[in-house]
Amino acid sequence: MRADRSIRDLGEADLDWLAEKEAEIFGAAAWSPAQIDQDFHSGLRRYRGIEESGVLLGYSVCGFDGDSFHLLNLAVVPGARRRGCARKLVDDFLDEARRLGVREVSLEVAVTNAAAIALYRGYGFAVVRTRPRYYQPEDVDGLVMGLALVGH
Ligand SMILES: CC(C)(COP(=O)(O)OP(=O)(O)OC[C@H]1O[C@@H](n2cnc3c(N)ncnc32)[C@H](O)[C@@H]1OP(=O)(O)O)[C@@H](O)C(=O)NCCC(=O)NCCS
Repeated sequence: MRADRSIRDLGEADLDWLAEKEAEIFGAAAWSPAQIDQDFHSGLRRYRGIEESGVLLGYSVCGFDGDSFHLLNLAVVPGARRRGCARKLVDDFLDEARRLGVREVSLEVAVTNAAAIALYRGYGFAVVRTRPRYYQPEDVDGLVMGLALVGH
């Protein structure tokens, strides 16, 4: 990782930034500020941010979904894409999963999201099942992708 690039826990003071980026990046499908606030304070999630020279460039959210450790959100601001930020955030997610002794991780991705699917396939994630019309209001199917960590 570049010397001036680092990943840290996000705090309450970062939530306005996150809500703004969420709306810019995901549009109508974005988590609302109220959802973010509630989710952040549930105590069940880990919010992480990647920053360069003190400027946040992307974020991830993870937590348990049943037995599976789940990547619930991942985004990088448009001006910082294709520079390895998402890969660093996924590495960080997998490090946390291993630290917790998790055997399997999972995530959901829209069938239309070629960039994210390529990113996850690069780690060996495979499609577990399809969730018809999972993404609303776009009415797009979701793919559940999973990766077994045993032996990784
Ligand atoms: C998907 C997203 C997180 C990728 O972020 P990024 O920082 O640009 O990704 P990275 O630079 O770490 O790329 C890692 C790998 O992902 C894949 N990838 C990333 N963007 C891609 C694109 N536009 N097209 C094809 N593959 C892509 C490539 O395999 C890439 O490796 P490479 O650069 O060596 O070819 C970013 O495009 C984004 O925020 N999109 C909008 C939000 C979103 O879709 N989030 C995912 C929800 S499941």
